[in-house]
Amino acid sequence: MSHSVDPSAPILLFDTGVGGLTVLEELRKVLPKAPVIYAADYAGLPYGTKTEAEVAARVCGLLGRMSERFHPRAICIACNTASTIALGMVRDVLEVPIVGTVPAIKPAAAISKSGVIGVLGTEATIRQPYVDRLEAEFANGKRLIRHAGPELVDMAEAKLRGHWIDLESLRGEVSVLLDAVENDGLDTVVLACTHFPLLEDELLQIFGPDVRLVHGAEGIARQIATVTKGQEFLRKEPDRLVSTSQDALDPSLRKVLTRYGLESVAAF
Ligand code: DGL
Repeated sequence: MSHSVDPSAPILLFDTGVGGLTVLEELRKVLPKAPVIYAADYAGLPYGTKTEAEVAARVCGLLGRMSERFHPRAICIACNTASTIALGMVRDVLEVPIVGTVPAIKPAAAISKSGVIGVLGTEATIRQPYVDRLEAEFANGKRLIRHAGPELVDMAEAKLRGHWIDLESLRGEVSVLLDAVENDGLDTVVLACTHFPLLEDELLQIFGPDVRLVHGAEGIARQIATVTKGQEFLRKEPDRLVSTSQDALDPSLRKVLTRYGLESVAAF
């Protein structure tokens, strides 16, 4: 089958905002020649405070329309909220391979010595049955402390645009997990939202050297390479970002996007 794929067909990366760039960065390392369209549903950001029905409707509708418009060879839902809610539904209706982004509970459980693990995600992600299933399968006998950090999404968006991050506010957002480091021996935190690795330096400062931060970006990039294995890649035009809202596309963001090889932006 793989020989029939158009070499210029893109890989479509989908998130609400810049979170998926953490996946794109790893994807560039494994598939530097792959044409990429980065889709940001800025009109829907944040997903984390929406209902399951709202997120599912947006993700299924947008990915359906984007598949028709861009004919991607594969789609990566580079958003934990969208994946834990809608991955199954999207796979049911689209024929293209779909790679999801789900909380890295399995690798976290493998490295935690104390067995006390924080899962830092959006409000919507941490309540998903998908996460219950990951916990039952991979963290049986461990203690998972799920915590929502909705403000971290805005902080990551701001940091990428060159704004200064107030460490005290960030500390306040994760104080429940910091208490668990003190009192329960928590030693590992899953960054269960693709925006959060953008704050890794700040979070490392706050959590200190004894806590490991784990996220899935590298594994997801490898998974994209696996589903496109054997295919040819030919970038005929510069990679671009498409956004459902123009408002978010300020010059400070555009500058950063070029660092990720996204040379232009367009409305969707
Ligand atoms: N980047 C998204 C995630 O991984 C969520 C950000 C949002 O709330 O829109 O969950």
